[in-house]
Amino acid sequence: MAKVTVNSIKNLKQSGEKFSVLTAYDYSTAKYIDEAGTDIVLIGDSLAMVALGYENTNSIGVDEMAIFTKAVAKGVKRAMVITDMPFLSYHTDIPTAIKNCGNMIKLGANGVKIEGFSDYILEVIKRLVETGIPVIGHLGFTPQFLNTIGGYKIQGKTQEAAEEILAQAKKLEQAGVFAVVLEMVPESCGKYITENISIPTISCGAGRFCDAQVLVSDDLFGKFSDFTPKFARKYGDMKSLILDCAKQYNEDVKSGKFPSEKEVF
Ligand code: KIV
Repeated sequence: MAKVTVNSIKNLKQSGEKFSVLTAYDYSTAKYIDEAGTDIVLIGDSLAMVALGYENTNSIGVDEMAIFTKAVAKGVKRAMVITDMPFLSYHTDIPTAIKNCGNMIKLGANGVKIEGFSDYILEVIKRLVETGIPVIGHLGFTPQFLNTIGGYKIQGKTQEAAEEILAQAKKLEQAGVFAVVLEMVPESCGKYITENISIPTISCGAGRFCDAQVLVSDDLFGKFSDFTPKFARKYGDMKSLILDCAKQYNEDVKSGKFPSEKEVF
């Protein structure tokens, strides 16, 4: 069982093989997701909403992300472990960005994901890669810019906008990212960028033609029920499973059926 690396991910694009990315936030889930053959396990800052109940991803801090990174990294053997760097953890200055991202590597991550595009972000990426920290970029809809974008809006809708995202992706590639997440762009935009860039594209609602797909695992498991994005597919119904188990346990405790003779010392 060979560990997934930056090079094996890049090779997948060259050989035309698709790969899978899933989020995980705790040790056991990370372990099972890895055992299932997922190629990249992402400690997404989506954990702010799905695991901590915050209103959006901007509320989570670098110390919280560190705790979840440590737990996930312990559970994963084969997949690449990537920490999504939270809002303000890499935005103020380069030394702080290197320190915060480098700390995730010390805790067991194999790389980081950072959102957005600007001259400053390009410099951050260059310096992280020089430091030995692999980076995934994130373009299209970037949740940390929710307030400036003005809501959960689809990006890259016109040919001009798609060209702009492609130009940004190429610059991210030159700066050193080994893959780029494209979030909430039309399928035609995802296809256009995928066909015109040599690093893998990871679709988060960017359609079928990207090199990889990413989903929030709580959406896939049917665990998070506050809302489900159009691009997510529910493969299970963990919400019902948890409700059923908890209800049955409550009944058994109240009726004296739990614990039984087998469950006592
Ligand atoms: O926070 C997250 O989980 C993400 C992915 C869904 C791309 O950024």
